[in-house]
Amino acid sequence: MAQIHYTSINQVVEVQDEFSSILDTSIEHKIPHLHECGGNGRCTTCRIRVISGHQNLSPRNMLEKQAAHLRKWDPSVRLACQCHVKGDVQIQRLVWSSAEVNKLQLETIPEGEAEERNIAILFCDLRNFTRITSQHMAFDMAHMLNRFYTVLGDPILINNGIIYQYVGDEIIGIFGTGGGTRQQNCMDAIRAGLGMQYAIERLNRFELKDFDTTFKIGIGINFGRAYIGHLGHPKHRQFTIVGDPINVTSRIQACNKEFQTNILLSEQVVRGLPENTLEIRSIFEKQLEGKDQIYKLYELKGFTEPDMNLELQSSLDYILKNEEEFAKKFYDKVFKKAPAVRGLFGRDMVAQGRLLMHMLGGIVYSLSRPELLKMGLRSLGKSHEKYGVKPEYYPVVRDCLIETIQEEMGPDYTEQLGSAWNQALGFITAEMTNWRVAEPAG
Ligand code: HEM
Ligand code: FES
Repeated sequence: MAQIHYTSINQVVEVQDEFSSILDTSIEHKIPHLHECGGNGRCTTCRIRVISGHQNLSPRNMLEKQAAHLRKWDPSVRLACQCHVKGDVQIQRLVWSSAEVNKLQLETIPEGEAEERNIAILFCDLRNFTRITSQHMAFDMAHMLNRFYTVLGDPILINNGIIYQYVGDEIIGIFGTGGGTRQQNCMDAIRAGLGMQYAIERLNRFELKDFDTTFKIGIGINFGRAYIGHLGHPKHRQFTIVGDPINVTSRIQACNKEFQTNILLSEQVVRGLPENTLEIRSIFEKQLEGKDQIYKLYELKGFTEPDMNLELQSSLDYILKNEEEFAKKFYDKVFKKAPAVRGLFGRDMVAQGRLLMHMLGGIVYSLSRPELLKMGLRSLGKSHEKYGVKPEYYPVVRDCLIETIQEEMGPDYTEQLGSAWNQALGFITAEMTNWRVAEPAG
């Protein structure tokens, strides 16, 4: 029987049969392996590097050839969901976390030339940076800045954006390098901005109180056409964005100081969204530095209706903080409410819990790529039918999950959050159980 050696965790497992892909084998052995599109050859998150045993893998099929060509992969990179194993191989998984998935967009950006794309741009500035640096020791400052970059970078990544640059006290996020409509890209940037505001409040409340400091941020968001590409010396090409919308965004951000605001949007962004999506606190008119015309700037308060994606994102920290404990609490509840399902699971509930949490975190990240997510959920649904999971078990799982989230979040849990999870789990269940409707036989 052929064996796969996962080198980074030094685990060797047997492949069930010649029809099992490498991804099937990872799932069977409960080895976390990202597969956003559910093994359909579309997302490339399951990619692996083959260390040895290339000759024992099935050749690249059409889907894999297309991905490899577009992304300029060398022959050692393979899609785990598309290749089958005929003899022993040694492999490494290449994408480790959902946060890394956005970076994959960069692979489709041209080398040495630039292409024009419609993108939303977000500038976030740490407003009191100079005063804070003068008040703290370099060591404390480095720690605080690291935390600042992490908590403010996450909302960019979770909303399908890429972190373009850190410039001193500023973070720049870009949305839409991989495509997407104006509405999607603007919504992603706005969610990121609101997520950053929430993250900074939490950072101030919980982590920085011992430093006697509070961070204040100003955010500017704009939308426009800019040139993107990997430019520079042939030996040192860098992802680069060039265009007027970038400079304009920087100037919009700078207006936060004058207007005493936190998040300012350009008219391009507001016009890109359906009417009444946003709650706007005030509108300013301003001639931006170096520009002749007057710009309308909108101070963002939030969404008019609770936004499911943003609510789910805000609870992710609590859920993933202590994954194993969370999963254990959750499964205990499920087995108490529906003892019959215990028999469907294997013995290793710790590994099972890890996979579930991996998948839940991944689902929240993938909400901004709904087409891939739907594909992934349908495949997960198909496997669940094979595991013996009946549709009536899904509401039990939904209720137990929401109860566990409520317990973990304590006083930070809100009705709004509960209803967002309810809505999300309704969507997940519908996709997992309706895959036959989505994929009629034949
Ligand atoms: C919210 C929806 C659900 C999600 C996101 C989810 C997620 C997962 C994941 C990621 C796995 C690992 C294997 C794989 O990727 O195929 C898995 C396995 C499994 N799930 Fe779910 N699941 C859900 C609902 C349910 C429900 C309602 C049940 C039934 C009570 C269930 C029972 C199982 C069983 C029996 C396995 C296989 C365990 C084994 O092989 O030992 N799941 N699930
Ligand atoms: S390409 Fe393999 S899981 Fe999406």
